Amino acid sequence: MSASATLAVDAAARLLRERGEQVVSFGAGEPDFPTPEHIVEAAVAACWDPRNHHYTPTAGLPALRDAIVAKTLRDSGYEVDRDQVVVTNGAKQAVANAFAVLCDPGDEVLVPSPYWTTYPEAIALAGGVPVFVPADESSGFRVSVEDLSTALTPRTKVLLFVSPSNPTGAVYPRAEIEAIGRWAFERGLFVVTDEIYEHLVYGSTEQHSMPVVVPELADRSIVVNGVAKTYAMTGWRVGWMIGPPDLSAAAVNLQSHETSNVANVCQLAALAAVAGDLSAVAEMRAAFERRRKTMVSLLNEIDGVTCYEPLGAFYAFPSVKGVLGRSLGGRRPETSAELAELCISVAKVAVVPGEAFGAPGYFRLSYALGDEDLVEGVKRLDDLFSSADG
Ligand SMILES: Cc1ncc(COP(=O)(O)O)c(C=O)c1O
Repeated sequence: MSASATLAVDAAARLLRERGEQVVSFGAGEPDFPTPEHIVEAAVAACWDPRNHHYTPTAGLPALRDAIVAKTLRDSGYEVDRDQVVVTNGAKQAVANAFAVLCDPGDEVLVPSPYWTTYPEAIALAGGVPVFVPADESSGFRVSVEDLSTALTPRTKVLLFVSPSNPTGAVYPRAEIEAIGRWAFERGLFVVTDEIYEHLVYGSTEQHSMPVVVPELADRSIVVNGVAKTYAMTGWRVGWMIGPPDLSAAAVNLQSHETSNVANVCQLAALAAVAGDLSAVAEMRAAFERRRKTMVSLLNEIDGVTCYEPLGAFYAFPSVKGVLGRSLGGRRPETSAELAELCISVAKVAVVPGEAFGAPGYFRLSYALGDEDLVEGVKRLDDLFSSADG
């Protein structure tokens, strides 16, 4: 199993900073805002309540599961019951649980590519086989039913779906979600749909939940979600999966032997988050919207770089193919991984190379960082790339 490339880039940037270097990191997959105060206050109060000092049900505190039921109806229009909800250590554990309960050895999972780096590892860990379905900027980094059909085999069991997407920021329109959902249903597939970036969509873009658009899929879908990106709570480690009761019960059994309940203090912070309003994410969204526009336009001004406009999440996914093969800083990087290495060592700019997402030739740049750092970081990339001497 390979290490998480995104976390590795962030760790490298941190190390350089500790040595006193002025690093700009586009590596982080997390909002640069603190967790809202009322959520922190709820956690502080939870610390003092002795009931939270002990084991609680593996599936999560009933009050939190009920709040997730209410939030899911409010935000997605998806009606579910408490026994379908399993509270997990971040959405990452929900992803791992989902594939663990769905995959038998050799079962194939369709994974639109570029993909979030954890999916293939979680599938392989469950004994499944990731089958990548490529898409590029010509289709807005979205796969079609035709693309999926070419990858379908008798062993295909699950379709992984994520919108908005990490790393591309692609968001599927409702009609495409419907077409893909119907296609999956008609072929008897299960769908794991990752909705962690549900509230981070820009302009007139809308996010839709697949089992709402295609209700027949409800008892073959696992929805993955969490508080990390919506409430700037990546460090609290609270996510959830929502599945049909039998799959959720299986996930609870699995989790009861792996991690038991999520830390109660964090669950009560998550309860304050999901039971509250969405004003904090509205503020973050406004900042991300501004930075997205700045980043895309600055990147497109760099010779050799082209950036498709992302519609959701907080990542730009530019092609750097036009820069490869140039002589830069005494080296001639031939791959985006080599170029990314040069960016951190020479320009002190951390980016995640496309190789981490199955898409060589691209960079992923998070725009969840301060406006000034963003401009400075892209300027350094411009300076480095335009220093080419042949
Ligand atoms: C698409 C996607 N799903 C899930 C996660 C995991 O989120 P969490 O921090 O809640 O584990 C991430 C985090 O980067 C993500 O990008």
